[in-house]
Amino acid sequence: MSSEKRRLIAGNWKMNGSLQEANEFMDAFGGNPAPDLVEVALMPPFTLLHPMSDRLASMGVVLGAQNVYNEDKGAFTGSICPMMLRDANCHYVIIGHSERRSIIGESNAKIRSKMNASWLHGLEPILCIGETLEQREKGITNSVLAEQLSILKGAPKEMPLTVAYEPVWAIGTGVTASAEQVTETHAFVHEELTRLGHDCRVLYGGSVNPGNAEELMSCPGVEGALVGGASLKADSFMEIVKATVKVVS
Ligand code: 13P
Repeated sequence: MSSEKRRLIAGNWKMNGSLQEANEFMDAFGGNPAPDLVEVALMPPFTLLHPMSDRLASMGVVLGAQNVYNEDKGAFTGSICPMMLRDANCHYVIIGHSERRSIIGESNAKIRSKMNASWLHGLEPILCIGETLEQREKGITNSVLAEQLSILKGAPKEMPLTVAYEPVWAIGTGVTASAEQVTETHAFVHEELTRLGHDCRVLYGGSVNPGNAEELMSCPGVEGALVGGASLKADSFMEIVKATVKVVS
């Protein structure tokens, strides 16, 4: 287990945020309070990457994108390639979010090719994995996660990688996985990653908020959070960051 890794609190804004809201967020967010202990990152929609880039950097907040296309350039109307994300100063890119798997129908093969394209351009993928409620109730959570992680077979071990475990039933529902479920599942994910030769951070995502952040971030094997709704407001996002700082201090 890799408890010594610097924690990452990443905010996924999903399809939210106007330019005005982005400016208000940055006015209110005072910057990363403890960069040595906790890394803070934000993934706004594509349209806000350039406008937010310089200011976030000056606040010690790392920039990321929510998706990327798996080709370098060309006739792919509506798509954004890794080089464009690097141009906007992105370090991270979320790949395989459950909303893209279920709504857009993104396959494991597509997800792997997006990761390869990202690595070629120096981006760090945050690979999202997670089971549905039906799969958890059937008792097949571990095999679902193992299958989603199996795309890492043969992936270069030296490439930067973060994994986010996001149980689908906990996303945007206000229902969080219990500390026991999180601890047990993170242990399995770390085991599986070790088997595949990857020693990377594993974040938890799914209804993380200021009220549950400390408990969730204290679970063994949890090395940060991927936060949706609660990252849209500067004060609630900051509270989650501070709760994490407290846990690791
Ligand atoms: P919520 O925090 O809104 O549940 O979203 C989690 C998520 O999907 C982050 O990627």
